[in-house]
Amino acid sequence: MSRPMAMSGRIFIQEVVTRDGFQNEPEWIPTSDKIALINDLSHSGISKIEVSSFVSPRAIPNLRDAREVFEGIERVPTVIYSALVPNLRGAEAAIAAGADELNFVVSASETHNLANMRVPTARSLAELRNVLALSGTARKPVNLTIATAFGCPFEGDQSPDRVFSMTESAMSWGAAGVTFADTTGMAHPLQVARSVERFIAQFGRTPLTLHFHNTRGLGLANVLAALQSGAVQFDTALGGLGGCPFAPGATGNVCSEDVVHMLDIMAVETGVDLARMISLSRKLTALVGHDVPGQIIKAGRACDLHPPPVDVRDSLMRIGPPGSVQPANSN
Ligand code: COA
Ligand code: ZN
Repeated sequence: MSRPMAMSGRIFIQEVVTRDGFQNEPEWIPTSDKIALINDLSHSGISKIEVSSFVSPRAIPNLRDAREVFEGIERVPTVIYSALVPNLRGAEAAIAAGADELNFVVSASETHNLANMRVPTARSLAELRNVLALSGTARKPVNLTIATAFGCPFEGDQSPDRVFSMTESAMSWGAAGVTFADTTGMAHPLQVARSVERFIAQFGRTPLTLHFHNTRGLGLANVLAALQSGAVQFDTALGGLGGCPFAPGATGNVCSEDVVHMLDIMAVETGVDLARMISLSRKLTALVGHDVPGQIIKAGRACDLHPPPVDVRDSLMRIGPPGSVQPANSN
């Protein structure tokens, strides 16, 4: 099978563990540990790191140190350091803290937006225009994340026309890019392929990020479907941490090292150092104090082989090296 055109170029991995991952952690993660992790991730070939959120500290207690984290990190020039913002106040704070990019969130679902942002979607979209006006003056790009774009845990299916109408509005107001977020892992690969194809047909090379959660085990299948349809930017979280506290049943993002491993063995270029990501993910388990959902840190890479069992070794010596072709009558 030949490789689809869309899979022949570079894929961009955008790390969200310190935002999506840590927003859902019950125990406080010290600021210095967040800073150290971001500094390590900066040297791993990641193209963008969502550092933190400038949101109500009551809504997301673990990210109340967003400003201190931004002030403490070392910047690698090839990495974009972005911040999630829910409103103008968050945007002002993110710009003051030195965020390179603002990630403004609105849900496709009215119910989820009310649960998450405490306002109707129309109000969030009006606030997006205010944020774009501010960011234009500050010369900071704004990405729009459309949460629950593939389904809402309260409302179910979301109309693709509604998602695309939000996208069109954001583009016409000056947003730099859009993220379609599958907040609680309700997307399936055919749906993802249709959305990505429609986006590219309508918006060409406008940056599109796919943000998948592995809540129903479809994370990697959705990444592959998006990739085959031409998507090149993916949000992923180290260890597969993540989840929105205002969406029932939410679980982790697609796992960074699992995604990179899949792409590596398919010879799709990400520029990400997989061995380094695996070692960071192992440290993350100690940092959050519990197991993480990622598979590769448990199973090892497909190329990490095991020595044969002792009793098999003698037989192998007689048969010859693995893969050698024996005459039909040999035993
Ligand atoms: N950063 C920090 N604090 C903020 C803020 C921001 N961007 N926007 C509002 N606040 C503060 C207010 O000052 C107020 O503080 P106080 O109670 O000490 O006076 C408090 O947050 C509540 O503000 P209010 O305007 O009454 O809004 P609300 O209670 O309806 O909350 C949001 C609205 C958007 C601020 C809040 O729901 C929120 O932060 N949501 C983010 C959810 C999230 O991050 N979800 C996961 C990612 S998708
Ligand atoms: Zn998410």
